[in-house]
Amino acid sequence: MHDDLWTAVDQFAAGLLHGRDEALDAALRASDEAGLPAIHVSPCHGKMLHLLARVVQARRILEIGTLGGYSAIWLGRALPPDGRLITLEADPRHAKVARANLARAGLDRLVEVRLGRALETLPLLAAEGAGPIDLTFIDADKEHIADYFEWAVRLSRPGSPILVDNVVREGAVLDGESADSAVQGVRRFLEQASRDRRISATVIQTVGVKKYDGFALAVVGQRAETPP
Ligand code: SAH
Ligand code: DHB
Ligand code: MG
Repeated sequence: MHDDLWTAVDQFAAGLLHGRDEALDAALRASDEAGLPAIHVSPCHGKMLHLLARVVQARRILEIGTLGGYSAIWLGRALPPDGRLITLEADPRHAKVARANLARAGLDRLVEVRLGRALETLPLLAAEGAGPIDLTFIDADKEHIADYFEWAVRLSRPGSPILVDNVVREGAVLDGESADSAVQGVRRFLEQASRDRRISATVIQTVGVKKYDGFALAVVGQRAETPP
């Protein structure tokens, strides 16, 4: 309904506050040329992830769902020189494009693209002691986000934020009878989070170049509403 206005405000804000960015522009161009779907986060959302990683001084970041590495570039740039971002991707075509984009952005030493289905990779990461993770961004297939979130909590330390993308879906999340498996996956995740005493969470609705959607933000640690 207000798509044009939302897009214009996103472009106004990013134009003022982000400046031109060769590596990110090149990553999107290469992703498009390789036929990847344009389902990366928006520039403002990407910068928010970057700023949040800096706020928590993240040294170890986990991303689930790499695509062409657009959000990984934003997150990787927040790392100190000895930091590490592990980003999980099931599609070898996507992983190849992402590796090239990350190398072009000068981040290939800090960012590792792990090829494989996240539900198989996450137990391996836990077994090899990849944690504690300082920030997690969950942005892969929505059917499994409840499971991804459980792994993220286990790999985190108290105070680590976990963000989950696309949890509003133009309001479709309200429909408990939805035949859309992504909607059911989001609802399962939110219900699980509501019972999880290890975390505290909320949902932020967003509009912009990606239309009407939203993300969940959770923090690992004692619930704020739990009396000491
Ligand atoms: N975070 C990216 C967008 C990710 S799109 C960005 O903002 O730039 C979602 C990605 O998750 C796709 O590349 C898809 O191939 C990947 N994916 C889907 N199912 C997966 C799975 N089971 N394990 C790992 N990655 C998966
Ligand atoms: C889709 C996935 C995403 O992560 C996103 O941000 C937008 C769309 C999708 O699968 O259609
Ligand atoms: Mg997404």
